[in-house]
Amino acid sequence: MSTPHDQGFCNETADPANIVIFGATGDLTKRKLMPALVRMIDCGLVHPESRIIGVVRDMSVDEWRQLVRDGLAEFAPEVSMDEVRWQAFSALLKMVPGDLDDETTYNRLAESLEQLGGRKNAMFYCAIPPRWYRVAAQGLNRAGLTAQDEGYRRLVIEKPFGMNLDSARELNRELQSFIDESQIYRIDHYLGKESVQNLLVYRFANSIMEPLWNRNYIDHIQISVAETLGIEYRAPYYENAGALRDMIQSHLMQLMTLVAMEPPVEFTANAVRDEKMKVLRAVRRFEPQTVSEQTVAAQYAAGHIDGEDTPAYVMEDGVAPDSATETFAAVRFQIDNWRWQGVPFILWSGKRLENKASEVMIRFRKPPFNLFDTQASVPAANALVFRLQPEAGVVLRMNAKQPGLTTDIQRLVMRAPYANDDADVADAYEILMHDVLTGDSTLFSRSDEVEESWEIVEPILDNWKDRVSIERYRAGTWDISAMDALTRDCVGGWHRPS
Ligand code: BG6
Repeated sequence: MSTPHDQGFCNETADPANIVIFGATGDLTKRKLMPALVRMIDCGLVHPESRIIGVVRDMSVDEWRQLVRDGLAEFAPEVSMDEVRWQAFSALLKMVPGDLDDETTYNRLAESLEQLGGRKNAMFYCAIPPRWYRVAAQGLNRAGLTAQDEGYRRLVIEKPFGMNLDSARELNRELQSFIDESQIYRIDHYLGKESVQNLLVYRFANSIMEPLWNRNYIDHIQISVAETLGIEYRAPYYENAGALRDMIQSHLMQLMTLVAMEPPVEFTANAVRDEKMKVLRAVRRFEPQTVSEQTVAAQYAAGHIDGEDTPAYVMEDGVAPDSATETFAAVRFQIDNWRWQGVPFILWSGKRLENKASEVMIRFRKPPFNLFDTQASVPAANALVFRLQPEAGVVLRMNAKQPGLTTDIQRLVMRAPYANDDADVADAYEILMHDVLTGDSTLFSRSDEVEESWEIVEPILDNWKDRVSIERYRAGTWDISAMDALTRDCVGGWHRPS
């Protein structure tokens, strides 16, 4: 785990590798992978002898390169591409033509790797819909491209890993029949965010945290991702997913494991993932009858965001007019272990809310006794907020004396930004792709973690699957009354990020 834009990172040039992209004309490649690769090359993280090989159908190499260039102009305008720079980058772009379900594609890919001489290391990035993961893994296996005799072979896959426990198990079983688990890198891009990694540094590099980090001092924890965007062009996926699958089962539960885990014995992939796994195993299982008390589901109605009218979810392209898919989900977890018994972990995420902010909020207990017991002097419970994005940093809410002759109390907010500018923070994809190239799987989900998190949310999915109506909130607001009920016994109630 490293930070690309710091000085040390530039010394960590990965070994020469073939960076193979399935889905090389797709959205993820345009928006995320290519911009990240350009920046990684700038920082010296990718070895100059590496190649980026796109598996592409129905396109000439020049057409594909042009598509990549247009994508960079649109999605990474800060990566200015003058002619000289573009020529250098495009020289790295090789193409293997073919369809994913055609065996000869993988044979051509094998030949292409062969021609590149000693550079046998390969990362295969599946920037393709999940139904193709198995096909790609099988094709690679049959063409002998999963064997690691002449260099490493690593398969990168994106979420969603299945849509429920059964499909996740099946996907894991299928992939593992073609390639070893140690070669599979399941990306959860939240784990690649610098501010998320910083959570671990805050926890384990500061001795003042550990004594407070438990049920004796913490009232509850809220982990949230609030977005102002709607579902954009993703109705076919989102209609079947909803916020619980899209955000809670993956990104937010991963964050919960980092917040709740015990210190690992060492900072290695398996030591960290073993501790995360213990947290998931300690999460109290939901009974069908408790689901409705412990969860909230809601959907955005029409509203107003940043001066613009926005449509209701059910009016978005591709969404059924009577859809009851949730665009907001909240789950109240309990972790049954010595550290966390009785401390609710409230994970929530929604689209088209009032603000965009991802946060981990640790709410401490109230002071046991109020020495300054006047109306104007009731101390608020302290809160430590890890702002993950935007404007990453840490905020500590304290009580202090008002200047003057009384002992009236005022709220003091201490802010420590993580970086001077969001632009200085590396993109998650830079960090994660570099980790794949250097073989560090600490920030990737292991198959058992994925299955365990599906198992935990399965009763909620079952309870929600036949839902025919859903609470609505006006886009651009926090008008979700059920959240007040869910957090009623929590000090400070529902924390809406500002
Ligand atoms: C993705 C979800 O995994 O994460 C999207 O599928 C969501 O629905 C996105 O918008 C949020 O990521 P970020 O990095 O913008 O917070």
